[in-house]
Amino acid sequence: MKRILSGVQPSGNPHLGNYLGAIRNHIEMQSGYESFIFIADLHALTTVRDPKKLHQLSIEVAIDYLALGLDPDKAVFFRQSDLPEHSELAWILSCVTPFGLLERAHAYKDAIAKNMKEATTGLFTYPVLMAADILMYRPDLVPVGKDQKQHVEIARDIAQKFNLAFGETFKLPEPYIPAETAYIIGTDGEHKMSKTYGNVIEFFADEPVLKKQVMGMKTDSTPVEAPKDPDKSAIYKLFSFLASPGEAKELADNYRQGGFGYGDAKKMLLQKILDYFAPYRKKRIELAKDLSYVDDVLKSGAKKARAQARKTMDIVRAKTGLALR
Ligand code: TRP
Repeated sequence: MKRILSGVQPSGNPHLGNYLGAIRNHIEMQSGYESFIFIADLHALTTVRDPKKLHQLSIEVAIDYLALGLDPDKAVFFRQSDLPEHSELAWILSCVTPFGLLERAHAYKDAIAKNMKEATTGLFTYPVLMAADILMYRPDLVPVGKDQKQHVEIARDIAQKFNLAFGETFKLPEPYIPAETAYIIGTDGEHKMSKTYGNVIEFFADEPVLKKQVMGMKTDSTPVEAPKDPDKSAIYKLFSFLASPGEAKELADNYRQGGFGYGDAKKMLLQKILDYFAPYRKKRIELAKDLSYVDDVLKSGAKKARAQARKTMDIVRAKTGLALR
């Protein structure tokens, strides 16, 4: 069975962009692949400065994944900071990583363009830690969003640098980006759905909040009577990702016929989201009441991950001449 690995930054209330672009894919892949999915709290430390909040965000994302169907008996599901090996390997890899490789990272360049004040060393070396996460577990594929593709390529480059310096050690990872869900447009109908733009639909939010987000979606000013092109509508696209092909066709026909307004389409989308996520919302409420279970899941996930991480670190320590354990 091929192995996949992916990390998810704990960032609070998940939205449809997270779900359709990453989470759903991670969860579906647990059946066909040997899966390693982890909560990247060390990465989140580049932006979060509140210990309670960071801890809470990690638990919340664990609950989200479990509620949405991640099966801890199928996937190895763990929290990055439970394994000091990740930080250790990141340091070692940083010693073979050319400075220029990191200077070319889009995510870093964007971050400093937005806010110079936050340009920490951790933000700069973020891709090295990500390379450590990946190379540690020798995955065949790394499912990520488009925005993370370059980071996986950097991990490949770092693996090659290490292999060249110390002999064949790391397997070169491949990014895996499912084409059709790679880019989910937000409620502004313009930008990629993201908390940064405030254009999200949070499917676990209370119903009034969710309703406001869906009904507030921006549309063009085509009048109700006029026929509309479903393929140009973010409402239709989101609907079609959650609905059956038959339901999607019905909505597309309504659009093309005319006499059907965007308001009607939004109502259908809202209902679809409520129906689709109903069992998951219920499960989430139960899990939130059983934090000791969530804790146990993360503990046993860490144990399984550690077996692999130890193996890699023993090899890396031996190859580099560091102390053996
Ligand atoms: N940087 C990724 C993101 O923000 C999260 C991440 C951390 C990751 N380590 C990883 C993803 C390793 C894939 C593999 O989405």
